[in-house]
Amino acid sequence: MNNTLKNLREAVALSPDNAILRKMLAKELMNQSYWSEAEMELKVVLRLTGEDQEAKLWLAQTYWALDKKSVAAVIAEELEEQGCDTPAFTFLLAQLALENKDLPKAKAYYEKAIDANLALKDTGFEAQLKNTILDSGMAMGNTTESSEEDTPFFADIEKPAISFEQVGGLESIKKEIALKIIHPLKNPQIYEAYGKKIGGGVLLYGPPGCGKTLLARATAGEINASFINVGISDILDMWVGSSERNLHEIFQKARASKPCVLFFDEVDALGASRSNMQNSSSRFIVNQFLDELDGIRYSNDGLLILAATNSPWYLDAAFRRPGRFDRIIFVQPPDAPAREAILNLYLEQIPKEAGINISKLVKQTKDYSGADLKAIIDIAVESKLEESLMQNKVVPITQKDLLNAIKRHQPSTKDWLATAKNHVLYANQSGLYDDVMKYLNLKK
Ligand SMILES: Nc1ncnc2c1ncn2[C@@H]1O[C@H](COP(=O)(O)OP(=O)(O)O)[C@@H](O)[C@H]1O
Ligand SMILES: [Mg+2]
Repeated sequence: MNNTLKNLREAVALSPDNAILRKMLAKELMNQSYWSEAEMELKVVLRLTGEDQEAKLWLAQTYWALDKKSVAAVIAEELEEQGCDTPAFTFLLAQLALENKDLPKAKAYYEKAIDANLALKDTGFEAQLKNTILDSGMAMGNTTESSEEDTPFFADIEKPAISFEQVGGLESIKKEIALKIIHPLKNPQIYEAYGKKIGGGVLLYGPPGCGKTLLARATAGEINASFINVGISDILDMWVGSSERNLHEIFQKARASKPCVLFFDEVDALGASRSNMQNSSSRFIVNQFLDELDGIRYSNDGLLILAATNSPWYLDAAFRRPGRFDRIIFVQPPDAPAREAILNLYLEQIPKEAGINISKLVKQTKDYSGADLKAIIDIAVESKLEESLMQNKVVPITQKDLLNAIKRHQPSTKDWLATAKNHVLYANQSGLYDDVMKYLNLKK
């Protein structure tokens, strides 16, 4: 048994009516997570002192720790009425608000608490807050793709050195982006002369690994623009942590470095359809986002706003209003010519035997995404690496290596297409998903 605790217990036994000693004992019990005993001591303290805000707060914290949350809430309410305002109390209020899924309040209290006392910063709490937002705002069945390509937010502004040439296939999309996005950005006068409104964002959707992110970066590269890649988790992090940076600052940063492609990845998580939202906090973030998109207070001239999602059907319809993401583009799995282009792109970069039969590879890779195709080549290369090391020379990849790699790597777009089929059949009222219907050979 710990000495401090032993001494305090003895002291309390000697002078049972000494509230100060008892408080010290209670605090020590709390420190050592003897919650039930702390509860008892604190009750005695309160009996002895009548009113002691600190002891009351401790009791509330103790109840919280004992998972008697509603009792904790009652005491907290009382303390609030009494004007209690200590950082530790504010933190408890944050915990209670989070328990009630009142996320804006939870966040506000939490910020206030750690502003006043940084020692209260609690990564566990932040994670819980973030998860609650995701649970409440994010749609179910959402596959989060692996994010090895994702840049952490403060990787900052990038100037992509790639162009459309590094994107295999997707020719019609490249054309559409050029015509509807790049040209207006470069020649705003012409478009304005014809009364065409420019601005607004473009939403790319489709199965993972088919080039949405790549296309966004290449678009920036095409016009020599800056590129900022914002993941949804970045926004949530910003919102949850009491950091200075926020959504507005991202937009400001983009506005300050125009021309700039501002790319929002996994945007569905942010704009999950309102029917999937159980509380107002996600809406709060959405509204903030829409405000910036609308660019009323600050002009979005010279900004190209792109977003990507694997699950467009979960996106709040408010995002699709004119001037927002009013252009929606299906980035489909690569068709045969696109697969050929992608395979060529990656095969170009590696030593291989002469006479690789690309069209055979293309035939065997239906439903393979661009990322799958790249993976196949990586697998083939890896299988050759050992041999190369043993022989101490570069051993070229053969057709057989590639065919073996195809066998070892399953196409990843099928699941998405199956899910998409359900959504599209039931949610294509406005013809939003005609492209997917066509791709899946479905009749309207
Ligand atoms: N059309 C494509 N051309 C070339 N590479 C591609 C293509 N599509 C996907 N890839 C490869 O797969 C990786 C992942 O693609 P990405 O753009 O992140 O997919 P998405 O954003 O649609 O999930 C890319 O970095 C690239 O290496
Ligand atoms: Mg992506």
